[in-house]
Amino acid sequence: MCSRWRTILVAACVAAVTLSSGEVYATEGCPIYLTISALARSLEEAPLVINWGPGCENPPDWIGLYTENPALNNASPVVKVLVNGEQSGQVISEVKFGRRKLPGGWSHAQVLQHIPKRKSKPICFDLYLTSYDQEGQLEYFDCLKIQPTWMFSKPGLGNVSLRELFLPGTHCSGCYQTRNNVGNAILKKIGFRQSLDVWSQLVFGVRYLDFSIGYYPSHNGTRNFWIMNEHFRVASVRPILQDIRRFVILSEETVFLDFRRFPLGFHNNPEQHEALLQLLEQELGDLVYRRQLSSDEESDAPMMDGESYNLTLGDMRREGKYILITYNHEASLNESTLVWKPWKKHSSAFLKHTELEEFMQNLFSQKHPDAPRNIGWSLHGVQGFQGSYNEEDATYLMPAERASIVNPKLMQLLGGPWSQRANAVLVDYFANTNLIDLAINTNHYKTLRNPANEAVVLDIQ
Ligand SMILES: *[C@@H]1O[C@H](CO)[C@@H](O)[C@H](O)[C@H]1NC(C)=O
Ligand SMILES: *[C@@H]1O[C@H](CO)[C@@H](O)[C@H](O)[C@H]1NC(C)=O
Ligand SMILES: *[C@@H]1O[C@H](CO)[C@@H](O)[C@H](O)[C@H]1NC(C)=O
Ligand SMILES: *[C@@H]1O[C@H](CO)[C@@H](O)[C@H](O)[C@H]1NC(C)=O
Repeated sequence: MCSRWRTILVAACVAAVTLSSGEVYATEGCPIYLTISALARSLEEAPLVINWGPGCENPPDWIGLYTENPALNNASPVVKVLVNGEQSGQVISEVKFGRRKLPGGWSHAQVLQHIPKRKSKPICFDLYLTSYDQEGQLEYFDCLKIQPTWMFSKPGLGNVSLRELFLPGTHCSGCYQTRNNVGNAILKKIGFRQSLDVWSQLVFGVRYLDFSIGYYPSHNGTRNFWIMNEHFRVASVRPILQDIRRFVILSEETVFLDFRRFPLGFHNNPEQHEALLQLLEQELGDLVYRRQLSSDEESDAPMMDGESYNLTLGDMRREGKYILITYNHEASLNESTLVWKPWKKHSSAFLKHTELEEFMQNLFSQKHPDAPRNIGWSLHGVQGFQGSYNEEDATYLMPAERASIVNPKLMQLLGGPWSQRANAVLVDYFANTNLIDLAINTNHYKTLRNPANEAVVLDIQ
């Protein structure tokens, strides 16, 4: 029995990994996936969360969490969840994320030694989920995974305009704990918005990064620019730019940097923008896709006016460029060709979580005047401090608590037909969602529908 089981598992495993990289629309099964809880003092201590649904007509009988690939050995599950007919669910397991290297040679330290192979498939951590029906037959397989080269793996995406892509993003991308800020009690309480650093975010598959920048001179001038969360200085900018540089060189993926706000030190010193643009030029300049200022007045107006959303990944790749920077400061757009106009931003930051659905309805149903049409836009699916205010007991929630409430709601709303209309979607604590899978699957589906891409077939190797 066991050996027969194993054969089935191997087959199902291959099929399901293919599924997770795109064919989700072709299946009737009840999806299961693993996420990392936001509610922990550190990533190391963060519990793994077993999810299924939403709205499964035929939920599995049980789901197992394994720390070794169940297709390759007979180890029993470390956690077994009895589904009891629930159509959707989320079970916080006792298993912690722990100290884990990014798999496939993608850890920050390993890529300095060896260039990792660009695989077209997701790469699993040794954390696997498998679901079974009443008869003990395997139904679905997934794992906690990284997808460092998902754009590269889908050449058909090269022709899709940026506004038609679903770009998985993080809000306040640089707002996480580092060796330098770990002692800061205020940051620890309210300053962090992500549990993974920018390098890991990119390796997981995030492609749209959001930055607020502050200017605050340091004694020797090397650390003048800061990642801000509201008015808190969280970290120095330069090391993050260096990680982005390293990532795009190794992966040839396209990464979007959205410099949205400048809440400290710029207001009375607009010349700081020049210095920041110089820093961007210095660290990333050769990899950035620039605006072309043509002297010919009659030529391409879109290029002249700084809108980037009708470009394609292919336009950028053909020039050997992998970074697009949008920058929310008009005078800087006049000064530099490095940066493009910001995309339209919609944010749920001031809403109560009960208001999220109506807000999303207005953006996605297209009847509302707010609904974006034929433009590049970002949805900041986050809740701010004020939005979490509870009048009854006059309390606010901490960022990780807010993300733990808002993210599942947001993902459920986005999971249906609205995913086809999403552009950049930014969340706090992205690792507690399946945002990246949703984006990759949606994009894949678009290239299948696009008649210009007849050459693109299902991802079967
Ligand atoms: C500047 O100061 C930082 C610490 O504040 C230090 O890490 C860095 O090495 C210094 N750079 C120079 C060039 O002295
Ligand atoms: C982008 O493309 C759409 C559809 O082709 C077009 O309607 C729109 O004017 C274009 N926008 C810009 C800024 O070029
Ligand atoms: C940027 O340039 C445009 C066109 O030359 C001009 O109308 C606008 O005032 C400039 N903006 C700033 C903030 O300098
Ligand atoms: C799609 O991209 C290929 C090159 O990658 C190009 O030859 C082709 O014309 C593009 N098709 C469309 C419809 O843009």
